[in-house]
Amino acid sequence: MIVVVGTPGAGKSLLGSSIARLLGRRFVTVSWIVLEKGLWIQYDAQRRSFVIDYERLLEALKRYTRHVVETHWLEPFEELLDVVEGVVVTRCHPVVLLRRLERRGWPPQKVAENVEAELVGVIAEEAKRLAGKGVPVVEIDTTRGSPAQNAADAVKMLRRGEARCCTEWLSVLREEELGFLLEKLTSLSSGVRTK
Ligand SMILES: Nc1ncnc2c1ncn2[C@@H]1O[C@H](COP(=O)(O)OP(=O)(O)OP(=O)(O)O)[C@@H](O)[C@H]1O
Ligand SMILES: [Mg+2]
Repeated sequence: MIVVVGTPGAGKSLLGSSIARLLGRRFVTVSWIVLEKGLWIQYDAQRRSFVIDYERLLEALKRYTRHVVETHWLEPFEELLDVVEGVVVTRCHPVVLLRRLERRGWPPQKVAENVEAELVGVIAEEAKRLAGKGVPVVEIDTTRGSPAQNAADAVKMLRRGEARCCTEWLSVLREEELGFLLEKLTSLSSGVRTK
């Protein structure tokens, strides 16, 4: 099983399906598995999300050992170390991610939360825990490059066992980019508060 993880909008579906095509495997998302198999306990209306039946999800995931699996949640895979061949973390330049998420018409606060999470590398940090347990973890920046080229790079790195993780945007971004982001994130968050 190859796990593709990343901030919403960071390119998991495009990259994951390209990796699957390249390797002649099937692509599946954890959300699809949860919905298709009814692996939830209840619907949390306030958070607008399903409360997942963790034990049943773990059991279900064991049947996808030859798949490429997209997720934004790594916790279950920490218990599946014997079947996880590698983890691919998708990253995206926060300014580009901001545009991708705004294009989706998401609520400003949701856009801000996710851009912030990418900026500080929340998911990449979680992936490091798996790397620490001996799982090959590689990172792909989807800001540039075609999904096919990025998929080829990811597979090559995984095969070579090249550990590559994780970009720290805070030390990569130029001062003016950080300034722009900070201002934008503040206005997105406050926009919601005043409504
Ligand atoms: N390699 C890429 N090159 C150019 N644009 C890309 C690339 N990867 C992703 N994108 C852009 O980002 C958008 C989001 O990509 P994608 O749906 O794959 O992200 P995701 O991480 O699966 O999102 P979600 O968490 O919502 O499922 C795409 O519609 C596309 O416009
Ligand atoms: Mg997706």
